[in-house]
Amino acid sequence: MVQLNDNYLKLKAGYLFPEIARRVKAFCSANPEAAARVIRCGIGDVTEPLPPAVIAAMHKAVDDMAARETFRGYGPEQGHEFLRHAIAQNDYRDHGLDVADDEIFVSDGSKCDCGNILDILGHGNRLGITDPVYPVYVDTNVMAGHTGEANEAGAYAGIHYLPCDAANGFVPEVPTEKLDVIYLCFPNNPTGATASRAQLTAWVEYARSHQALILFDAAYEAYISDPAVPHSIYEIPGARECAIEFRSFSKNGGFTGTRCAFTVVPKTLLAATATGGRLPLHPLWNRRMSTKFNGVSYIVQRGVEALYTPEGKQQVRGLIDHYMGNAAILRTAAQKAGLPVFGGVNAPYIWVATPDGFTSWEMFDRMLCLANVVITPGSGFGSKGEGYFRISAFNSRANAEEFARRIAAL
Ligand code: MLT
Repeated sequence: MVQLNDNYLKLKAGYLFPEIARRVKAFCSANPEAAARVIRCGIGDVTEPLPPAVIAAMHKAVDDMAARETFRGYGPEQGHEFLRHAIAQNDYRDHGLDVADDEIFVSDGSKCDCGNILDILGHGNRLGITDPVYPVYVDTNVMAGHTGEANEAGAYAGIHYLPCDAANGFVPEVPTEKLDVIYLCFPNNPTGATASRAQLTAWVEYARSHQALILFDAAYEAYISDPAVPHSIYEIPGARECAIEFRSFSKNGGFTGTRCAFTVVPKTLLAATATGGRLPLHPLWNRRMSTKFNGVSYIVQRGVEALYTPEGKQQVRGLIDHYMGNAAILRTAAQKAGLPVFGGVNAPYIWVATPDGFTSWEMFDRMLCLANVVITPGSGFGSKGEGYFRISAFNSRANAEEFARRIAAL
């Protein structure tokens, strides 16, 4: 009989956000009078429309597809050159960072890239993953067979967890153990923490001295307002030799539904072969993308290109300011409710300690039933997330204000 992938049976629960959606749906079915009042600040999904510059560029791209002379069929699997160039120039070279156009790989999302990157990494790597963490890093390693079973607390054998708590400012310390692959996400999902230049430098030095790889998720870099906080791992000298960076257009340009992101794989990044040689990862990722991906739609890539025009940049600024205005409202409301509050300053997530010994899921139920608001339970991000919940600032201003009123009333 056909064999299934037993690794999937090790996964502890459904993926966090569908599980939340399932519980909210069940609540709304059982309480139809409350359903219309529900405010969703669970998943970090944008609410505001695409910037006008994007819409205009996409309309024009649709017209391109309507004429034989400008029609496009398959595009390059790595992304159209116009977009790879715009990204490398605007996000890196304009900031003095050495990233070539062909080190940019355009994709349909950072979540996909974070999972797919395992295709080019071996099976014996020692994994370092923060706790709490964006669950994709853990679950994709479980699916790929890189872990053993989970224990009662949900921790998988074979993962070295890097605890993040209030004591270390939710930034993991460099371990004494030797790790091979380390996942870092800054600004952080879920805690909203940022890593300083000194902290990232310590990680880059660790990675270089252990010949390890940092997988750096910078999906929320556009939310950094503190000029001292690095936006890219490549701001740290030596990172081109030890880091891959993931970035997304979901949270800056509002592309969660439209889908587009990119991954930077420096050509200077080497990894070991089974026979002890050292080879670059860049050609492997290129091969992987050419084989398993046919590129992001031309229309979407033209839309993303428009984010880099002067109008596009201004409109993105407007979106970020809108969501960070919500973050300030939500943060203040949670503080006024007397709760310990983290994040929400250089990130669109507010990380809040639960009151009165409530577990994260108890707090989720309480807020849904009593205030009809949806948050994300911290334990869904790992055992160290227990005792916390996350509020997403992605919403309309009216909903953020109403959410704040309801927290106060609760
Ligand atoms: C989140 O809520 O953590 C994010 O929206 C998830 C994602 O970006 O995939």
